[in-house]
Amino acid sequence: MNWWWLGAIGSALHRIESGDIPSKYHNVALVVGVTGISGNSLADILQLSSTPGGRWKVYGVGRRRQPEWQFHHNHVQYIQCDMVDPEATQAKLSHLSDVTHVFYVGWVTKSTEEETYEENGRMLRNVLNAVIPNAPNLQHICLQTGQKYALPSLDSTAEIQNEPQFVEELPREDTTDSYYAMEDILAEEVQAKENLTWSVHRPAVMHGFSPYSTRNIIGSLCVYATICKHEGQHLKFPGNQAGWDGYSEAADADLVAEQQIWASLHHQGKRQAFNCSNGDVFKWKDLWKILADEFELETVKFEEDSITLEEMMREKGPVWDQIVQEKDLLPTRFDEVGTWWYVDSVLRCQTVSDDYINRGMEKSRKFGFGGSRNTADSFRFWIYMTRKYKIIP
Ligand SMILES: NC(=O)c1ccc[n+]([C@@H]2O[C@H](COP(=O)([O-])OP(=O)(O)OC[C@H]3O[C@@H](n4cnc5c(N)ncnc54)[C@H](OP(=O)(O)O)[C@@H]3O)[C@@H](O)[C@H]2O)c1
Repeated sequence: MNWWWLGAIGSALHRIESGDIPSKYHNVALVVGVTGISGNSLADILQLSSTPGGRWKVYGVGRRRQPEWQFHHNHVQYIQCDMVDPEATQAKLSHLSDVTHVFYVGWVTKSTEEETYEENGRMLRNVLNAVIPNAPNLQHICLQTGQKYALPSLDSTAEIQNEPQFVEELPREDTTDSYYAMEDILAEEVQAKENLTWSVHRPAVMHGFSPYSTRNIIGSLCVYATICKHEGQHLKFPGNQAGWDGYSEAADADLVAEQQIWASLHHQGKRQAFNCSNGDVFKWKDLWKILADEFELETVKFEEDSITLEEMMREKGPVWDQIVQEKDLLPTRFDEVGTWWYVDSVLRCQTVSDDYINRGMEKSRKFGFGGSRNTADSFRFWIYMTRKYKIIP
């Protein structure tokens, strides 16, 4: 059976292989942002012996020291590097002359849109300037941005020019945006090397694993549910009516990784941008039952409330620290494992437009990538992984 389909069906049987480091590799991946929600899945999948294009040698870059929850990445050579600093980036990455494929999934959220825009652009440019001139066999660069490409932040005076149809070729709005800037930097920098190809991947809200992620909805909900259980509370849905019973969609982090690996190896995937989502739609009221079931909690009848999850969690840092100690969990920082603002933005949302439901993976499928996920299975799987790595009891 085709590997891409096997991944879809076997999502709950995610294998982590150990064993000897092979002496020969077919390709060499540089995963930039390896400790993030996307980078963690890329590293997991690239190190498997059955992954197309393999065996892969894998370098992974993160800003902090390699976290304990990634020690199972025994085939990944971890490089600690602050990509904001051009000299440090040159020093750490320019000697990686065997890299054949770059998977850029780095991201930082700053306090203002402008700073976010500046810093993400700077990091991407520093990495490309260190790698492209020094890796003679470099073939392809995958850049991950996101579905918000179709709905960039506009200043209050601007008007949306396009119906947000979420098709990849939608014309841009007249604004500055981090995703626009990063995609432009990529297009500019790949010119430096003949035959170097690229692809851009724009996922929906991601379901995956990383306690370091700037946006991790499942990890955050697991922490919230753990606190509810500890305090003997019912599991209240903190979103709005549209978030509760409107249609939503998500992108499993493994699926996004598979789409990137596919694009990096197949000519149909090159020099293209692709949306990425599981290929189904769901309602949060159904996932909420799964969350309650996983944590053996009672739910509360839904009633819309103006109190956000961020407000509900404001004073809970000491409670979390107590739970971590009592249950002998891996030490985590409460402000890192709970990305409350992001959960609020997802659960207090508008529904998915019909256009998006119909077209999320349409281009991807047409070009030859047939992967998909069942969101309910994916949701359970990432709760299981969060538990397995002892982030929650
Ligand atoms: N998460 C989602 O739900 C979601 C949904 C749609 C689109 N996206 C997009 O997908 C892309 C990847 O996002 P993500 O959510 O996977 O990111 P993430 O989980 O927040 O991870 C970011 C990664 O970048 C690294 N990083 C940040 N600053 C760095 C620096 N100065 N030097 C070196 N490494 C640095 C982090 O390392 P440290 O951990 O060491 O800081 C981490 O490995 C972004 O464009 C994002 O907007 C994400």
